[in-house]
Amino acid sequence: METLEKLARASLQEIMKVAFREHILIPAFNVAYLPMVETIVETLKECRTFALLEVSRPDITRFGAESFQAVKREYERFGDPSFTRLHQDHVPVIDEEGKRVDWASFIEEALNLGYHSVMIDGSRLPLAENIAVTREVVEKAHRRGVCVEAELGAVLGHEAGPLPPYEELFRSGKGFTDPGEAQRFVRETGVDWLSVAVGNIHGAISGVAKDQKKVEARLNIEHLIKIRELTNVPLVLHGGSGIQKEYVLQAIQNGITKINVGTEIRQAYEQGWRESGEIRKGQRMLRERLQELIEEYYEIKGSALRLAAKL
Ligand code: G3H
Ligand code: ZN
Repeated sequence: METLEKLARASLQEIMKVAFREHILIPAFNVAYLPMVETIVETLKECRTFALLEVSRPDITRFGAESFQAVKREYERFGDPSFTRLHQDHVPVIDEEGKRVDWASFIEEALNLGYHSVMIDGSRLPLAENIAVTREVVEKAHRRGVCVEAELGAVLGHEAGPLPPYEELFRSGKGFTDPGEAQRFVRETGVDWLSVAVGNIHGAISGVAKDQKKVEARLNIEHLIKIRELTNVPLVLHGGSGIQKEYVLQAIQNGITKINVGTEIRQAYEQGWRESGEIRKGQRMLRERLQELIEEYYEIKGSALRLAAKL
């Protein structure tokens, strides 16, 4: 218990640094519906696993997360700092429909609400603009002790309309994060964690595809290693749902510290909830899926204790 108290007191920045050094994965579970918060936290406690709860703008605009404030309220009811922290996911500068977003006010909102980390997503901007916007957010957030994640490269899938065939995307390396650009990006922005594209893609958030099973993505581990060698910050894998396990485990050994999981836990919750009309059933299906992910897929049961011991 004493060791877990140490984890509860540690800053998220310290925890992520230790996780990066020790190759301990910290998943970030997207809250697409408010009752998911209680179930995620309960499951983490049962499994003695540390993970982030995160909410993105699409979770609010496309699903049932309602608002950054509503998620914070749920987090205050159920959250436990020995097992979790709260992250603001994807605040895009240009959204999935190509529209400009008032990103500064969303970031400000999360900072005022006391989120532990934020993500500015300038990945649809040219490099220099992405650097400028990210640097601005880093300056603002760091003054308040809040970590910043940014994205470089194109993690496709949130945009409406069909994607090119996955194998074609993977083989061509189109949209992959350029290692040299990543080095410059980290140096010039001072960002804490970097989301990279190495074969991972997002699950759909619109149309019929949002209810379908995601493609089982692969990862180009050689490419990841090049990015890892030139950046030396915790790397983040978006589009975590459905990536083939062997690639995920290799990625954890080669710089991936945080993995974002949205589609598959949302679909588990929706399935139980829609079939019965009962939130409890949605929560039950969600719990089963989370347990599988934690125990069998990522193999991180007990990770809170391992992290605490290394702090
Ligand atoms: O930011 C959220 C994630 O990248 C989730 O991706 O829905 O494919 O798991 P996913
Ligand atoms: Zn994402």
